[in-house]
Amino acid sequence: MSLSVFITGGTSGIGLAMAQAYLDRGATVGICSRSLDKVSDFNHKNLYKYEADVTDKVAMEITILEYFSEHGLDYMVASAGIGYAKKKKIPDFDQSRQIYEVNVVGVLNAFEPAMKIMLKQKRGKLIAISSLAAFNGLPGVSAYSASKAAVKQLCESFAIDLKDQGISVTCIAPGFIDTPLTRRNHHPMPFLMDSDKAAKLILRAIDKNKVLYAFPFIISNVVRLLSFLPRGLYTRIMTRDSMNYSLKEK
Ligand SMILES: NC(=O)c1ccc[n+]([C@@H]2O[C@H](COP(=O)([O-])OP(=O)(O)OC[C@H]3O[C@@H](n4cnc5c(N)ncnc54)[C@H](OP(=O)(O)O)[C@@H]3O)[C@@H](O)[C@H]2O)c1
Repeated sequence: MSLSVFITGGTSGIGLAMAQAYLDRGATVGICSRSLDKVSDFNHKNLYKYEADVTDKVAMEITILEYFSEHGLDYMVASAGIGYAKKKKIPDFDQSRQIYEVNVVGVLNAFEPAMKIMLKQKRGKLIAISSLAAFNGLPGVSAYSASKAAVKQLCESFAIDLKDQGISVTCIAPGFIDTPLTRRNHHPMPFLMDSDKAAKLILRAIDKNKVLYAFPFIISNVVRLLSFLPRGLYTRIMTRDSMNYSLKEK
């Protein structure tokens, strides 16, 4: 049987580029999202598409079990995610709750059924797409930044807890990748990377069973460096006008 990979949010951006990259390797791939309209032209003999919302625990369990019963399951990739349409100092709290539901609960809803399967078969890989936004509380995107920090910590704990069960866990923390999510941004996006290139790097990190893979190299190191600063100093730097001009009109 070929490698079997399931990708939430596999109908767009990073998830879609990963689906294509795994198909190119000869894997069987399942993708899900709330709507399949975006992928009506994306077809392959080894590709299976499902309409499922990651915030719906039952729907995710049914979808993943259905995929598993027909194709097996080696890797679960939780890529589905949302962000704020616009940076804001005072957030829309309903939107913040929605971001948490999709970005954090959505990962749990994908990992729970996958983990049950993998614990039984004593092998598998769990992968989640966090973000460089996970390393520091970023201005104007509070819940997004916090949701990605939660995903990063979840993965780190799981990587330890599941090590002796034959399951490896990889957290991917990308910088700016050119996808529909970032195409609506109005702020500068240093080191913006093409999604196919990002997918290649991500697959390589998964192959190597990296616990955490943050990229691109330069910006990920800047972000990590900032995370070591005393928080008072970090806050002073980040409240400087030059760091916040995209929040000016708020
Ligand atoms: N692009 C970047 O620069 C960047 C950087 C760091 C981290 N990330 C993270 O990478 C992941 C993928 O982002 P992307 O840039 O590829 O975004 P994208 O192009 O907007 O793709 C997001 C995918 O998630 C799906 N999705 C959203 N809400 C969902 C839900 N409730 N249930 C099921 N599927 C849902 C979307 O499909 P539907 O809307 O049809 O459901 C779509 O397939 C996200 O977790 C994002 O936070 C992205």
